[in-house]
Amino acid sequence: MDALVAAHALESGALEAGDGNLLRFITCGSVDDGKSTLIGRLLYESKTIFEDQLATLEKDSRKHGTTGEEIDFALLVDGLEAERQQGITIDVAYRFFATPKRSFIVADTPGHEQYTRNMATGASTAQLAIILIDARKGVLVQTKRHAFICSLLGVRNIVLAVNKIDLMKYDEAVFTRIVEDFAAFSRDLGFGSVTAVPLSARYGDNVTARSEHTPWYTGPSLLEHLETVDVEADLQSAPFRFPVQWVNRPNLDFRGFAGTVASGRIRPGDQIVVSGSGKVTQVARIVTADGDLDEAVAADAVTLVLAEEVDVTRGDVLSDPQSRAETADAFSAHVLWMSETPVEPGRAYLMRIGTRWVPATVRAIRHRIDVNTLEKSSAESLGLNEIALVEFATATPVAFDPYEQNRATGAFILVDRSTNETAGAGMIELPLRRATNVHLESTALDKAARAAAKYQKPMIVWFTGLSGSGKSTIARLVEARLHAAGHHTYILDGDNLRHGLNSDLGFTEADRNENIRRAGEVAKLMLDAGLIVLCSFISPLRGEREMVRALVEEGEFVEVFVDTPLEECMRRDPKGLYVRAQAGEIPNFTGISAPYEAPEAPEIRLETLSGSAEDLAEQVIQQLRRSAIAGENWASP
Ligand code: ADX
Repeated sequence: MDALVAAHALESGALEAGDGNLLRFITCGSVDDGKSTLIGRLLYESKTIFEDQLATLEKDSRKHGTTGEEIDFALLVDGLEAERQQGITIDVAYRFFATPKRSFIVADTPGHEQYTRNMATGASTAQLAIILIDARKGVLVQTKRHAFICSLLGVRNIVLAVNKIDLMKYDEAVFTRIVEDFAAFSRDLGFGSVTAVPLSARYGDNVTARSEHTPWYTGPSLLEHLETVDVEADLQSAPFRFPVQWVNRPNLDFRGFAGTVASGRIRPGDQIVVSGSGKVTQVARIVTADGDLDEAVAADAVTLVLAEEVDVTRGDVLSDPQSRAETADAFSAHVLWMSETPVEPGRAYLMRIGTRWVPATVRAIRHRIDVNTLEKSSAESLGLNEIALVEFATATPVAFDPYEQNRATGAFILVDRSTNETAGAGMIELPLRRATNVHLESTALDKAARAAAKYQKPMIVWFTGLSGSGKSTIARLVEARLHAAGHHTYILDGDNLRHGLNSDLGFTEADRNENIRRAGEVAKLMLDAGLIVLCSFISPLRGEREMVRALVEEGEFVEVFVDTPLEECMRRDPKGLYVRAQAGEIPNFTGISAPYEAPEAPEIRLETLSGSAEDLAEQVIQQLRRSAIAGENWASP
């Protein structure tokens, strides 16, 4: 927000009305539709601009403007320089203005198709959308796109701004036809209200006051509507949700859970349920730096103290037990893809949902949705700015709500593990239960008991590296030594598993991901049986390895990077595969025609050029014994 503008608004008392009287809206349309002119006009009419800005504007209007001697309001909307030069808007800009009745934050986003993601960003926090239509052109493909994205991002209140009505001689029939056209195709988009206003942003008709040029129009002016439209404070009236950001435990006497109320409200004495464990208890106190509160509502950052000692960890969601958040490890979601790298089934990402980061895999793309026609079609992959309904599986169950019910807890982002970029944004549709009525049987005999019988700390020692790097050789030597020392072990090896359990899988990214997922699940079962599991898989992608790490508890997954340079692997070529891969006979060969993402911070790194396999195995044993990795109960029998 422009500091000057904000200061001015504060002076005029506009902000004191509080958040409840703040309307966040988005404007959708292109420069050609008169969008910048309209925003500029709103800023001007609401007197949010100052004398000096006005002088500059008048000067600029003469220099760059397209309106002759009159003020070009589009120039007021101080977008990026590129916008002025190319006549397009290329990013999301948030602008503030206020009237005595209400304050407004406008997200101004570009209309061009390739900027769908920017528009989605702006729409995600908007309570209302102004969809601009040029009266001369009527409902266009882009109008449909805008309406669809607004609908997808949960904007329920729409203003159809039929602009440039002056150029159509203020003809009522033109207006009526556009309103009908829009109503016809937006019927299924789930809008709560659609208000249509005939406008001339350039001449100000029906912008702040009703125009005498449109006597047939009986509705409010645009600004009147914006000032009075009732957008329910939706997040406050939704059920209580509190994603735990961190556990605040400064000393033994205090244990609180810090975070921001995502939706609803909470008071001391209210019951909550913890998403992870299903435990129900009461809120004892609502603590803030300025003392305890009687109530906290959506957007308040607080620390909750619970009546009982229950297990709560970062990423858990506390909710209203009468209206609980969903908990599932699979769900369908609409995804807007924001990365140049397309998404395909089988790909693994890091998902941020609420305060939780969880490895997530794309299970299937159900259908792609054409943003212009709303048509659905089957798709193998999803590219930049495309939207699809996608099925996801997460490494552990997560708490959420369908986005339609709660925008705060139903949204997530996907991060590409290898580049760390935000690759996509998602809006959850429904949980998917792979099998209903399956409950986890908790047996009294647990991992700890089984491990104790073996006098060892169970763990997964995961060897990753290129084909021919020496993973399996070293893993076998490590196993032999552990066995000799009386430990209970098992070895899982890519080549072996691919003859049995994984014999249906090849080497595409999706198959590899599934290969590692299964291997990880098997290793986890063996871990639960109390074993030390040695795993030897190329496991070329960081995301896959992180997926396995996330399956088990901290300290139970030990990543060993068998670091052998590609040239050395090619020189050794124990199975003659590199020669064949280079000849083009083996597709997707790691290091040749498929990537290998080296671990960034493995627990153990073996520089294989520096020693014999025996030496390297001994290094692993030493490190397992020495470091905290092994824990205290790493004892030989
Ligand atoms: S992973 O990439 O999915 O982790 P995994 O460790 O199970 O691979 O299997 C790798 C072994 O499969 C290699 O050691 C090699 O013998 C064989 N192999 C066959 N085709 C390929 C390929 N395209 N890329 C890598 N290894 C391959």
